[in-house]
Amino acid sequence: MEFPPGFLWGVATSSYQIEGAVDVDGRSESIWDRFSRIPGRVVNRDTGAIACDHYRRWQEDIRLMEWLGVSAYRFSIAWPRVVPEPDGAVNQVGLDFYDRLVDGLLEAGIEPFVTLYHWDLPQYRQDSGGWTARDTAHAFAEYAAAVEGRLGDRVRYWLTLNEPWVVAHLGYRTGQHAPGLVGSGKELDVCHHQLLGHGWAAQALRAGNPDHQVGIALNLEPRLARSDHPLDLEAAAGEKGLMNRWFLDPLFGRDYPNYLVELMGWSGRVVADGDLEVVAAPLDMVGLNYYRTEVVGHPGLSDCERPAPLRENPPEITEMGWPVTPSGLGRMLGLLQEYGTKAVYVTENGSAYPDPTPKNGLIDDERRRHYLEVHLDEAARAIKGGAPLKGYFAWTLLDNFEWALGYSRRFGLIHVDFPTGKRTPKASAHWYRKTISSHRH
Ligand code: FCB
Repeated sequence: MEFPPGFLWGVATSSYQIEGAVDVDGRSESIWDRFSRIPGRVVNRDTGAIACDHYRRWQEDIRLMEWLGVSAYRFSIAWPRVVPEPDGAVNQVGLDFYDRLVDGLLEAGIEPFVTLYHWDLPQYRQDSGGWTARDTAHAFAEYAAAVEGRLGDRVRYWLTLNEPWVVAHLGYRTGQHAPGLVGSGKELDVCHHQLLGHGWAAQALRAGNPDHQVGIALNLEPRLARSDHPLDLEAAAGEKGLMNRWFLDPLFGRDYPNYLVELMGWSGRVVADGDLEVVAAPLDMVGLNYYRTEVVGHPGLSDCERPAPLRENPPEITEMGWPVTPSGLGRMLGLLQEYGTKAVYVTENGSAYPDPTPKNGLIDDERRRHYLEVHLDEAARAIKGGAPLKGYFAWTLLDNFEWALGYSRRFGLIHVDFPTGKRTPKASAHWYRKTISSHRH
């Protein structure tokens, strides 16, 4: 594997998944605090109330990153810490935490990559419609300005939103994620308001400093048709379009794709004059969260009705049920190149597997290590082929609160014993450390 000079090696986390301290220093309730208390929504009734206790153990976590040798750290800011009340007043005590974290990272020689929204919406915003309300996009930009005002002298890289597809479809259609709305029929409006919030936040960030590198983290995924039966092709095109083009087209200055608007019967009434120019604010970078490639078939077709056989040699499957498909990373980097992206960072990539029992004190998580290796390999190949890939963030530093799956899925390079908070690097962390040290220059 070869990586260019200056390539950033990182790890990624998010606030609600690791911080805990949910009612400390003025933080108010987020939609995930509320959602995870509803019986049946999160496995084992787990919540992020304590999580990795990172809010208190952040210095130890920086030490772990130093040990890994990473050059960058992607983390997110909890909106309910910064603007805890509907009146919009900024809670400087909440920002103090991130201020110290950023200083600590810089002292350790680690570049901070800030994500402004990784799903922990203040509950009071949900109470007035959440992302179905245009006002949330305004409020998001104000919050972004407040964070920039405090951290913008030291933070250069900013990602506005994390995976707006997930927010919209899992939060407002399937109900698997907070706020847990099933079939609201509002998911495409939610996408638009998020993109609008992204655009306004980008303006606010650049008003603070035009040199900021501003982007958005998208979960782009190839969706392959199960066969070349027209119904399978149509099903795959629809799903793939909603995940990828639905975001990339407006972000890169095109309108929402017409065929999808028609397919979904979307009225688009929430799109006001001038919105699309806001959404299409130039991107300095795109964050690509990549985990898997799925095969999609039309639900009404049986395998006997399909012309081509199902693919042979099924890929390995992780504990999430996600196939290990590194080639999709290359395909998505290619797609971003087609859109003319100047810089891409893989802002998440990783896998959940049950951890084997430690042998001589070592958790030998070979499958997680292998997952990283094959994806980094693919990344290196894509760079060789011309992809403007500038960095890679492994998901994730620590085992953490995996949303609706609670603590039942471990993605960490570092094992966390949740009752005590004790951190232990797994074999994958040792491997990543070695890989970084032999490639970082
Ligand atoms: C992504 C999320 C991240 C984590 C991984 C496994 O969709 O952005 O927080 O849950 O999946």
